[in-house]
Amino acid sequence: MIKSLKNQLVLALGLLVSVIGVVQGVSSYQLTQTGMNALLDMRLEQVAARLRDGLAESLPKNPSRGTQDERDVVAVVWKPGQDLPFRTTDPSLHFPRDAHPGFSGVDVNDEHWRIFTRQEPTMTIQVAQRSSIRRELTQEAATQTLWPIAVLLPLVWIAVALVVRRSLRQLNQLGAEVRDIDMGNLQPLPTVGVPTEIAPFIHSINTMIERLATSIEKERKFIADAAHELRTPLTALQLQADNLAPHIYPGNQERFQELRKGIARSGKLIAQLLRLARADAPANGAPLARVDLSEVVTSAVADVLPIALARGMDIGAEEMVNAHVRAVETDIGMAVKNLVSNAVRYTPDGGTIDLHMRRDGELVWIDVIDNGPGIDEALLPRVFDRFFRANPDVEGSGLGLSIVKAIAARYGGDVTLKNRGDGRSGIVASIGFPVEEVRENAAAPAMNL
Ligand SMILES: Nc1ncnc2c1ncn2[C@@H]1O[C@H](COP(=O)(O)OP(=O)(O)OP(=O)(O)O)[C@@H](O)[C@H]1O
Ligand SMILES: [Mg+2]
Repeated sequence: MIKSLKNQLVLALGLLVSVIGVVQGVSSYQLTQTGMNALLDMRLEQVAARLRDGLAESLPKNPSRGTQDERDVVAVVWKPGQDLPFRTTDPSLHFPRDAHPGFSGVDVNDEHWRIFTRQEPTMTIQVAQRSSIRRELTQEAATQTLWPIAVLLPLVWIAVALVVRRSLRQLNQLGAEVRDIDMGNLQPLPTVGVPTEIAPFIHSINTMIERLATSIEKERKFIADAAHELRTPLTALQLQADNLAPHIYPGNQERFQELRKGIARSGKLIAQLLRLARADAPANGAPLARVDLSEVVTSAVADVLPIALARGMDIGAEEMVNAHVRAVETDIGMAVKNLVSNAVRYTPDGGTIDLHMRRDGELVWIDVIDNGPGIDEALLPRVFDRFFRANPDVEGSGLGLSIVKAIAARYGGDVTLKNRGDGRSGIVASIGFPVEEVRENAAAPAMNL
C-alpha cells in the first residue's frame, strides 16, 4: 500500500491519463485503418469507373509480364464472348471472371487480393490490389497516429508529478511547522494563503496549540505558586531547626544533621522549581541588556572556583570571543552557571574543566568540557527531561538542564550535551545564543530598559 498522498495522486492521475491515452490510441489506430481501407477501396472503384468510361481502350494490348510495381493496382477488362481478357495490366495474373460484383477477396498466385468487380453489359471490369500491400499501407498510416500519444504520455506523467508536488509543497511546509511545535514553540500556524481544503485542519491545530499553551501555562503557574507557598514554611522549619540545634543531645546529633540536610535539599529543590517556572514563563517585559558573554563565562568560573580549588580541580576559560547577547543578564548567567556547576559536580576530585567560546553562524557558543565519567549514550537523550538524573549517587534535583534549555529557547538559542569525541571520557555541554551584532560607530551599549 502506498502511504504517501503525493505518490497516490501521481499514480492515480498518471494511470488515468495513461488509460485514456491507450484507449484513444487504440481507437485512433482502428479508425485510421478503417479509413485507409475505405480510401483504398474507393481508389479501386474510381479506377474501375475510369476504365468503363473509355480508359480500357488506351491500355496497352500486350504489357510485358511482371513489369508492374507490386504496390500498383491491377486492372483486367473482359469483353463478352472472349475467353481471354480484352486488356490486362499484368497478364500473369488470372482473376476469376465470374467473381460476384462489388468487393471480394481471392487467392491468385499464392497471394491474397482484394478485388472490385464491375459487370457492365459491354464489359466486365476487375480492379485488384494485393491484401499484403493494403495491410502495409493501413498499418503505416495507423501507426503514424500513435506517435503523438507515445511522446505525450511520458510528458503527462512528468507534468502530473510536478503539479502534484507543487500543490503538496505547502502541505509539506505545514508538516514541518507542525513537527516543530513543542513546549518551547507554541506559535499558531500561519493561516494566510492556506488552501481552503487544509484551512479547517490548520484551525483545529491552532485551537489545540492554544489549549496546550493555556494548560502548560496553568501547570507552570501551579508549580510556581506551590514552590512559592512551600518556601515560607520551609524557611520557618529551617529556623526552628537552627534554634533547636544547641538543645540536641550529642547522641542525636547525627540524626539531627540528617534532618537539617533534608531540609536544605528540599530548599534547593524548591529554589530550582521556582527558577524553572520563571525560565518557562513567557517574556514578562523584564529589561533586556547587552550582555557580554565573556564576562558571563568569567563570572561563572569565579563562582565555582573556591569549590573547584578545594577539590583540586583545574578550571579555566580559554579562547574567549568578543560577543554580546540581548537578554536578561541573570538568565544568561544562570544558564552558564548550571552547566559549569554540573561539570564541577559530576567530575571527580582533581579533574579538569575547560570553557571555550566560538562563533558558528548566527550563534555564539560556550562549551563546557570536563573529564568526568560522561553519560551513558542511551541516557543522553533524556538529560533535558525534568527530574531526570543519570547519576543518582550524586545529589541533585534533575532540573538544572531543563532550566538551561528553557532559557536557551527563550532567546532563540540552543543547548546540546554530548560525550567527548576525542577519545577521553567526559562531557561537552554547549549553549548557544544569537549574537547581537555590533554596529559600526554604535553609541555606547545602551540598556533597553
Ligand atoms: N557534566 C556532566 N557529567 C556527567 N553527568 C552529567 C553532567 N551534566 C549533567 N549530567 C547528568 O545529567 C543529569 C541531569 O542534570 P541536571 O543539571 O538537569 O540535574 P542535576 O544536576 O541532577 O540537578 P540540578 O542541576 O537541578 O541541581 C544529572 O543528574 C547528571 O546525571
Ligand atoms: Mg545540574
